[in-house]
This record gives sequence, C-alpha cells and structure tokens, in this order.
Amino acid sequence: PAGARAASDRFAFSQIPTNTEDAITVPEGYKAEVLVRWGDPLWSDVADFDHATRGSAETQARAFGDNTDGMQTYSIDGRTILVVNNEYTNTDIIWGNREGGKAETDDDIAKGMMAHGISIVEIAPKDGIWGIVKDSPYNRRITPKSEMSFSGPAAGHDLLKTDADPTGTTSLGTWNNCGSGPTPWGTYLTCEENFNGYFSASAEGWEPTPELKRYGISAADWGYGWARIDERYDVSKHPNEPNRAGYVVEIDPRDPNSTPKKRTALGRFKHENAECVVNNDGRIVIYLGDDERGEFAYRYVSNGVFAPGADTDALLDDGTLYVAVFSDDGTGKWVALTPETTGMASQAEVCIHTRQAASKVGATTMDRPEWISANPNAPEVYMALTNNKNRGVKPNAGGDETPVGGPNPREANNYGQIVRWRPDNGDHTAEGFKWDLFVLAGNPTVHSDAYGGSDNVTRDNMFNSPDGLQFDSNGVLWIQTDGNYSNAKDFDGQGNNQMLAGDPVTGEIRRFLVGPKECEVTGLTWTPDRRTMLVGIQHPGERGDSHWPEGGDAVPRSAIIAVTREDGGLIG
Ligand code: FEO
Ligand code: CA
Ligand code: CA
Ligand code: CA
Repeated sequence: PAGARAASDRFAFSQIPTNTEDAITVPEGYKAEVLVRWGDPLWSDVADFDHATRGSAETQARAFGDNTDGMQTYSIDGRTILVVNNEYTNTDIIWGNREGGKAETDDDIAKGMMAHGISIVEIAPKDGIWGIVKDSPYNRRITPKSEMSFSGPAAGHDLLKTDADPTGTTSLGTWNNCGSGPTPWGTYLTCEENFNGYFSASAEGWEPTPELKRYGISAADWGYGWARIDERYDVSKHPNEPNRAGYVVEIDPRDPNSTPKKRTALGRFKHENAECVVNNDGRIVIYLGDDERGEFAYRYVSNGVFAPGADTDALLDDGTLYVAVFSDDGTGKWVALTPETTGMASQAEVCIHTRQAASKVGATTMDRPEWISANPNAPEVYMALTNNKNRGVKPNAGGDETPVGGPNPREANNYGQIVRWRPDNGDHTAEGFKWDLFVLAGNPTVHSDAYGGSDNVTRDNMFNSPDGLQFDSNGVLWIQTDGNYSNAKDFDGQGNNQMLAGDPVTGEIRRFLVGPKECEVTGLTWTPDRRTMLVGIQHPGERGDSHWPEGGDAVPRSAIIAVTREDGGLIG
C-alpha cells in the first residue's frame, strides 16, 4: 500500500498521495524551500521584483529569467555555480498588469525578451539553506541579445547568412532554451526548442517555404511580439533568420566573458536536452530528442576521444549525427545522416534541415521526445515520450505518417511513456540496440485496456506526460511531469504535475513531490555535496489559478526549490 516502505527498497522515502494544492508537497522527513524566483535580482543594484509592474526590460535583463527549465551546478574555484535555462514567458503573467494581459509598450516586449535565455548565478548555503549570491563575478545573464558564434558543419553556410551577419558565423542570442546537459569537460549545453514561435511576417500574404513550415514557422508568432522591436524576427524580411535557431549551444560557466557556441553538428530541430555519455573507447556520445509530434530521436558520436588536453571544440564539431529506427521486434538501429545517406548536397544542409534529412532515411516517428537520461550504472538510456494526441490519427504537420507501433503503441496517446534502449555490446557507438518500455503511463481507475498503463502504474502512483528525466548518482531515475492537471475524466486522481522516482531494475515507481497549481515540474540537479536537490517549478498559474510561491494575492512566479532531508542526509 501507499506509504509502506520496505527496509530493502532503494527509495529513501514513502510515497505521497497526489493533490491539487497550490503548494509544494514532499514526503515526511523532507523539506522544500525556494532558492530563486523569476525576477529576483542577480546584482545588488537592481530593484527587487515589483508585483505591481512585474519589472521592466532593464531590471529583467539583470534578474533571474522566467520559466526555469534545464539546469546544472558546477564547482568552480571553490564556489557553486548554477546554470539554468529560462525557457519562455506566459504573456498573461508577465504582462498581467496590462489590459487583457497584452503588451502595451515596446518595453513590455523587451521585458519579455529579457526574461528568456540563461541565468548563471552563484549559490551558497547560509545557515544550512542555499540561496543565491548577488554580485558574484560568475553571475551572468545570456539573452536573445547576447553574442554567440556558429561552429561545426553549418557555420558559414549560405542558409545562415543575413544582412546583419553576411558571414553566417555569428549569431545574436538564444531563446526557448528547454533542457540542458553537462559535458565531461565542465561546460553547459543548452537546447533551443520552440524557437519558431517568435517569428512573424509583416508582408501581406507571406507563406513559409516547405523547409520553414516543417519547423513550424508561420506568418504569426505566439504572442511575444518580438518583430515589433527587433526586425530580425520578421521572417518576410529576413527569411534565413529561423535557420539560425534550433541548435544546441555550449556555454562555459567558468568564464563570464566567453562567447557561447552554437554547435551545428548536433543538428537543427526542437532540441529537448543533450545527454552526454563518454563511451568505453573515449568517444563522446550525445543523445538528443526533437520534441514535436511525429519527430525523431537522435544520437551524435564524436570522431575524437575525450582525454586530458583533448580539443573539446573538435569533440562537438567533428562527428556523425544519427537518427533512430525502431523495429516492432524490440530491436533498433542508428542510421547516419550524411550527404550519401540523405541525398542532400552537404553536411551543412543535413545539419540545418535535419528533420528532412531524417525523414529521407526512414526514421521512426515518435510520441514527442522529451528528456533523455543515461543510467550511470548500466549501458542503457531512457527517453520520455510525453504524449501524442495525433498518433495514428493524422500525420505530423509537414512531416511523416505516424502509425501506431514500436515504442509508440497507442493511438491518440494522451498519457505518454518512457522507452529505454540498451546499445549492442554495451557500446554507445554501436549501430544496433534493444529497446523496451520502462513504463506506459495511464489511468487504471478509468481504463482497463492499454490506457490504464503498464503493470508498474497503479492508482497510487499514476501520472501523465513524463517529460524531465534525470538519473541521480545512485541510479534512481527521477521522472518529472508536464501534463494535464485537470484531475478529471481521463486524468481523474492524477492531481497536479509531479516528480516521481523510478527503479530501473525492478520498474517500481513512487511519487516524491507534487507541484503547485498549473505548474510543470522540470529541471533537476543537485548541490555538489548531494545534500540538496534543486527542482524547477515552471509556469505555476499558467491559466490564472495560482499565487505560488508567495501566496495571498501575489503574482505566481516560476522558481527553483531546494529540497533537503530534515536529518541533513544525502539526497540522490
Ligand atoms: Fe520544453 Fe519539450 O519541453
Ligand atoms: Ca520539457
Ligand atoms: Ca513537455
Ligand atoms: Ca515547458
């Protein structure tokens, strides 16, 4: 029964029931405190967050960004540096002080822009509780205005050239940064996901090319209004500008003046995260997912090996990009994406039109690939397939048919699943792999068929839409959800979004944390001493029904929480 805890189990907590509270719930013996919130200043000369105005472009550019997502900590010079993605903004919240939640001034739009990107901030314990260190020399904001460079096969290609950058080698900024990944050499990989939603067209009757359409570019943006203040987001004037987004970007947190690099060898798509593994032979393998209904799972393998003194630029620029083909018999293979296999003119084109390249080799359409995490104790890799309402119903817009089968076994799949694969011979560079499903999420109180979920889903631990995945150092798989929180009908009894722990050996899954109303739980890392777990709470109150974390009438604010054990023990 829920709450029971066997002496032998590998989870150091008792399962908590789900709920619909506007609060963080953790098991007995644990506590959760807020570490940093959207709008908290990173420097002492910046005003505190103002609930009435919700800040300005100037304050936001020097404060913690909105909608926290992927994150990692780094030990640098005896300090702990937290690097965090700020994925996007909810216009109803960031402009909630305006009529109808719409931007009224250019500064409103610029404030929204400055809430995107990456926040880098030193953190430290004070009386045992971790908080941010204002004015640290490592503190930095990276925004859609920050200078970066292109590297890898696509750098300098005609499709990347614009009026502002006739060389196709430099770029301004990064946005919609979703998941992340650490490299073994101490840098941070941030992943550009829904970059398309920021472009719009001022020209009457403008239509996207098929190439842009496959990436979701259309004449209207998603309400951010960036083209109003920055012409490069007007795709009818600057049609190559969208080709310059959708990459994995490498950031060096040790040098606050370093220029981030867009690593085009890792392909262009709606990148979720970047899970980096050092293979037995020293080559770097990076697993990558494209979060869109009917898009694909990818792998990158470096040509060189990671060794002391290695040229780490080359490890991310020179290598081979592959896409996954899953067979119904539980096997699969990685197919290289090259001019030879795809018929494309160059590797640069493969790296810019990666979705089209993958379609040409017959890649398997997936149920929205979200985070990927590799088990530190075994050569196996887990990927969240969050849901897919279109599976078996209609093809991916601009892409391929999406038949039911393989690791995507349900039509109109609104619960999601986690697939795992084991590379042949324990070699992450092998062509072949075996796969199975770690869990099929579902609701056993509502359904008795496959929509009730796999055997390891019960009335006590059920959830929908797995998204964040992160193994801890003990080999426990933490699962975060970004799903339907209506707590009704198909989702009856599933409550708010949550975080669970999974045992990769037994398949057992147990709920650890429930988030506040209308949030998504995403982003997970630890302080270097492993006594504090940092968990991201994104978009609380995205539909207007939360005042978390401050309560009362406060504006809801995305935040990172610090979870500790009351006995001060290790946590993951
Ligand atoms: Fe930003 Fe696919 O989640
Ligand atoms: Ca996600
Ligand atoms: Ca999601
Ligand atoms: Ca999200």
